[in-house]
Amino acid sequence: MKVEDLRKIAVLGAGVMGHGIAQVAAVAGYTVAMRDISEEILERAVGNIRRSLERLVRRGRLSEGDVEATLSRIRTTLDLREAVGDAGLVIEAVPERLDLKKRVFKEVEEAAPERAVLASNTSSLSITEIAEAVEDPGRVVGMHFFNPPVIMRLVEVVPGERTSRETVEFALGFVKKLGKTPVLVKRDSPGFIVNRVLVPYLNEAAKMVDRGEAEVLEIDSAMQFKARFPMGPFLLSDLIGIDIVHHILKVFEEKLGPFYKPSESIERLYREGKLGRKTGEGFYNYREGRPQVPEEAGRGFDVNRLLALMVNEAAKVVSEGVAEIEDVDTAMKLGANLPEGPFEAARRIGVGRLTEVLRELEERYGEGYAPSPLLSSLK
Ligand SMILES: NC(=O)c1ccc[n+]([C@@H]2O[C@H](COP(=O)([O-])OP(=O)(O)OC[C@H]3O[C@@H](n4cnc5c(N)ncnc54)[C@H](O)[C@@H]3O)[C@@H](O)[C@H]2O)c1
Repeated sequence: MKVEDLRKIAVLGAGVMGHGIAQVAAVAGYTVAMRDISEEILERAVGNIRRSLERLVRRGRLSEGDVEATLSRIRTTLDLREAVGDAGLVIEAVPERLDLKKRVFKEVEEAAPERAVLASNTSSLSITEIAEAVEDPGRVVGMHFFNPPVIMRLVEVVPGERTSRETVEFALGFVKKLGKTPVLVKRDSPGFIVNRVLVPYLNEAAKMVDRGEAEVLEIDSAMQFKARFPMGPFLLSDLIGIDIVHHILKVFEEKLGPFYKPSESIERLYREGKLGRKTGEGFYNYREGRPQVPEEAGRGFDVNRLLALMVNEAAKVVSEGVAEIEDVDTAMKLGANLPEGPFEAARRIGVGRLTEVLRELEERYGEGYAPSPLLSSLK
């Protein structure tokens, strides 16, 4: 299948991600069939798409007429066969459970045209494992959109071990047709690029607090005002959801090693059901509005302490063959809204200085902090 020949798309799951992906595809001119398991969910999804399109009109990004035209390209259905029967591309965005995804892919393979490309929006499962559900794993690929898909420009394209070159080219081409930026994740590895680099940094910030090295507000303030991140690690963990951060770290711990074990505080919040903004409490309490982060709180905190960890994780990603240096920088800027990529940060701060920080941490807390050999080869 050539991306130029693609007209019809099926999106499976009309939740947070599915409805956004359906909207982006319809805005780009594709005909979209959106499938979920209840009429109520589908109606809510279409309502959300309408409101989002109207917001884009108010911001001057779409014209009035585009709202109805875009909506007319989206149909909803409860019937999987009906959704995928004429699709050239199927994008799966059902809940993050391997058994469910495998079942869905098997059903899709039976009902979709033979040439259709089958994509999964999974954040933490292995594309290779999902593809085991189908007879031709060559047509399965990861297409990892970021939340919210309408706003976020990055899509990680992830080939599984048996994905064909043609499928990868198709996925990269499709993402460009949506007006978004694809980055190629060369190897199907836990967390791909953005979550792999970002989530251990969130964990490290929490470990610092657990060890009594710094306070929540101090770190959040420094990362926001001194490192110029959109928000600090604790506000971000609460926004993502402590359950999601915890889940990703558990996957990392199992597949990458004990260094990624969730910090004590993340473990405790998770157990207590304090999952962040969505439950009203996480690292912060949200019942009386958004927490205030004063600029002075972070004055004494050295942001290189956390940047060093992030840069080191980025270096591991490159040395493990998961992605190229430039793609890691692009992914972190577009997928996590960072002001600079980790390798750009490394060049600005100086590799020598970062290596020093890491060596000190290695001495104090163990080998997980050992500087990646790739760091010393950076120019
Ligand atoms: N939420 C995020 O920030 C985010 C970001 C990137 C990727 N993802 C990934 O996207 C996927 C979906 O996540 P979400 O946050 O949109 O979840 P969600 O729970 O909001 O939506 C999932 C939807 O799938 C529906 N569903 C369940 N079984 C189905 C089936 N058999 N067929 C069709 N629909 C079915 C559910 O009713 C629900 O509406 C997950 O794999 C997740 O890891 C999520």
